[in-house]
Amino acid sequence: RVLIVDFGSQVTQLIARRLREARVYSEIVPFARVDRTFLAGFAPRAIILSGGPASVLETNAPMPDAAVFEAGVPVLGICYGQQAMVSALGGEVEGGRHREFGRASLTVAAHSPLFEGWVETGAAEQVWMSHGDRVAAAPPGFHVIAASPGAPCAAIADEARRFYGVQFHPEVMHTLRGERIYENFLFRVAGLKGDWTMAAYRDEAVAAIRAKVGDARVVCGLSGGVDSAVTAVLVHEAIGERLTCVFVDTGMMREGEADEVVGLFRDHHNIPLIHADEGPRFLAALDGVTDPEQKRKTIGKIFIDVFQEHAESIGKVKFLAQGTLYPDVIESVSVTGGPSVTIKSHHNVGGLPERMNLGLVEPLRALFKDEVRALGRELGLPERFVGRHPFPGPGLAIRCPGEITAEKLAILRRADAVYLEEIRNAGLYDEIWQAFAALLPVRSVGVMGDGRSYDYVLALRAVTSVDGMTADYYPFEHDFLGRVAGRIINEVRGVNRVVYDVTSKPPGTIEWE
Ligand code: XMP
Repeated sequence: RVLIVDFGSQVTQLIARRLREARVYSEIVPFARVDRTFLAGFAPRAIILSGGPASVLETNAPMPDAAVFEAGVPVLGICYGQQAMVSALGGEVEGGRHREFGRASLTVAAHSPLFEGWVETGAAEQVWMSHGDRVAAAPPGFHVIAASPGAPCAAIADEARRFYGVQFHPEVMHTLRGERIYENFLFRVAGLKGDWTMAAYRDEAVAAIRAKVGDARVVCGLSGGVDSAVTAVLVHEAIGERLTCVFVDTGMMREGEADEVVGLFRDHHNIPLIHADEGPRFLAALDGVTDPEQKRKTIGKIFIDVFQEHAESIGKVKFLAQGTLYPDVIESVSVTGGPSVTIKSHHNVGGLPERMNLGLVEPLRALFKDEVRALGRELGLPERFVGRHPFPGPGLAIRCPGEITAEKLAILRRADAVYLEEIRNAGLYDEIWQAFAALLPVRSVGVMGDGRSYDYVLALRAVTSVDGMTADYYPFEHDFLGRVAGRIINEVRGVNRVVYDVTSKPPGTIEWE
């Protein structure tokens, strides 16, 4: 495996992504944790030093441990990583006046395995730069292999020690064919093979779960989403009947969803499953609650109470399995002061591991979302389940602004099902990040047949997104929208007007509450 030493760049994750695309396994670790002991335990086959916001010219600048250069493995420094390497190995970095941000033209000055099949010696290619400081003199043993107008040492190499430094960012798409540089570093320089596959991951993950859990019992919360589903099937493969899943049915699920979850896990995969059917309890607690934050808190609290009650009923549980993904566990490094490491963790049962004194089993920690989907397919989960749109923990409660009643939930559920059915029929489901309906607390006047109607307004939402952090509305054809509106008004009693939400995020959010 490859070690990525993180100096806090915004794009460190992309390095891991490029490595994964080359089928090489890597882990990102904050620079402060990488010392001689750590390296001995990790035993990397190659090391990459990421970029970062600091300047090596500042006092107390974050520096790689000397052991990094004594490990006998290839090292590739990127941007700040290059400067830190140069500074550590006796070269010279200069500050200030030669900033380059954005596209730059890089000219390859000398042959190097790093550039094999990328750009010929003497030729130029577009790369992406983002630096204030630059390398003024390469350390002893290094020579310059490429230059740009703002960086005479834009790429340097010590082929004997297999140390390389580049000022630009090969991991971003604006560096054309930059993935070739990573492939060269991994395959030509470090002699690795791109043999990391989902099947191999599955086997490794199963072995790791067995080793960690021993003969203890594990509980896993199923939400109906992809991440918890894949986690459950994987853990079940590892430890069988010693896994029990708890499905907290809030009553805020979509049409048919609860039956689908129970059917798939209990009946199809034979995973012991407790279906905590607590809709009325959630509905009672939400009585009169209209404030969105209050709704979320109310649901979150009962969710944990219910989960805990059932987890305790299983007895002697030692671990909680949850579907934490790679983007959730990246430890972001703050090199500009303050606490040096913050870890963002995300789960639906927050606080429970401490309360119940449970260890954590998180077999998806190394995966990106699309890889979780691939693993789900590998494990035989149905495509319809694996390719699902995200669904928020508080469910339909935050798609029903204002007071929540059983009647409104029933209307919303039916209308949402019609909408999604039409999206699937039109072959658009996979193009859309998330689509759903929201039932507005507004009634409007309509005419149906010869009579007057006075019913709810339903808003349709569909967005495209990469990670849910930003989003744009999906540009449906008007015919499609007209067809969906017609079906909903005809088939769903209680709705007599349908509108389409064309707000992007920001300034809007994806959900309505
Ligand atoms: P927003 O509405 O913040 O949503 O733009 C971004 C993404 O997150 C989902 N979401 C949630 N997921 N628990 C979850 O598990 C929540 O409380 C929650 N709130 C929003 C939302 O569906 C979208 O995919």
